[in-house]
Amino acid sequence: MDSIVLGDSREADSYPKEPFHLTVTSPPYFVGKNYEEDYSYEEYIQLLKDVFTNVVNNTVEGGKIAINIADIAAFSKVSGEIEEGIEVSRILADHMKEQDCRLMSRIIWHKDDPWQNSQHVGYHDGIPATYTRVLPNWEYIWVYYKGESPKRPDLPIINVGTEDERVLSVTDSISKEDWKKWVSAVWYMRSVASNRDHSAKFPEEFARRLILLYSVEGDTVFDPFLGSGTTAVASHNVGRKFAGIERDPDYHKLSTTNISQAVNANTIEQSYVSPQRWKQNKMF
Ligand SMILES: C[S@@+](CC[C@H](N)C(=O)[O-])C[C@H]1O[C@@H](n2cnc3c(N)ncnc32)[C@H](O)[C@@H]1O
Repeated sequence: MDSIVLGDSREADSYPKEPFHLTVTSPPYFVGKNYEEDYSYEEYIQLLKDVFTNVVNNTVEGGKIAINIADIAAFSKVSGEIEEGIEVSRILADHMKEQDCRLMSRIIWHKDDPWQNSQHVGYHDGIPATYTRVLPNWEYIWVYYKGESPKRPDLPIINVGTEDERVLSVTDSISKEDWKKWVSAVWYMRSVASNRDHSAKFPEEFARRLILLYSVEGDTVFDPFLGSGTTAVASHNVGRKFAGIERDPDYHKLSTTNISQAVNANTIEQSYVSPQRWKQNKMF
């Protein structure tokens, strides 16, 4: 199943017919981006609840749901109506529990420094004393599993060092060196520098890591907020099937272009937009 739907992920009808094994996604953060302007705060919270209810309903038992979210919506100009410091991922955590999901991992994505481009801080004359805000240069990734156990009934136990380890990824097992980096909860990774085509992409490496950790070759990986198609591209590049939903026609078109490029590329490196982008997406 490889399917990219132009639709609204709040609607159960937009979802693929077959269940998926892993979701890797980043919802809107309610910070005033063009693609979320039409949501009131109440509608935004309801969006998260409706979409993740649908996601859980379409996930296999023991399947994983990885949600990247910046957590606090209250630092945005559009959120003046919101109580300071509201924690969106806490609301989401309560909701996931109600959907019979349990927390497996909480990862902190440590991004590059925000002060260089932010209009919220400045090191120059005319700043009032004691006025410095400390800016978040990190976001969360919450990984949930569906049901009572994170063990998928359809998968074997891995014996590291034997042929069986090949179930971990498409060509080889996750190396011990990568494993050591990936099981530590702070992941250092640059955010995507060029936002000309989409204003809030995550790096392909970000999706790739989650896919290698939480799915096996041949699984289906889903993204209900597909944007530019990063999750689908990363899934294809490591031998997974993909499915996604995007409601904006321009972003939907962008995602299909990016996916076609990945599907037609012969090597992983070629499937990135450019060698420059490949470098940007790698760890520091
Ligand atoms: C944070 S962006 C995701 C970016 C993506 N991870 C990437 O790397 O390109 C969120 C996306 O969700 C889409 N979106 C917002 N509300 C939606 C809805 N109800 N159904 C489907 N997509 C929606 C937006 O148009 C936007 O492209």
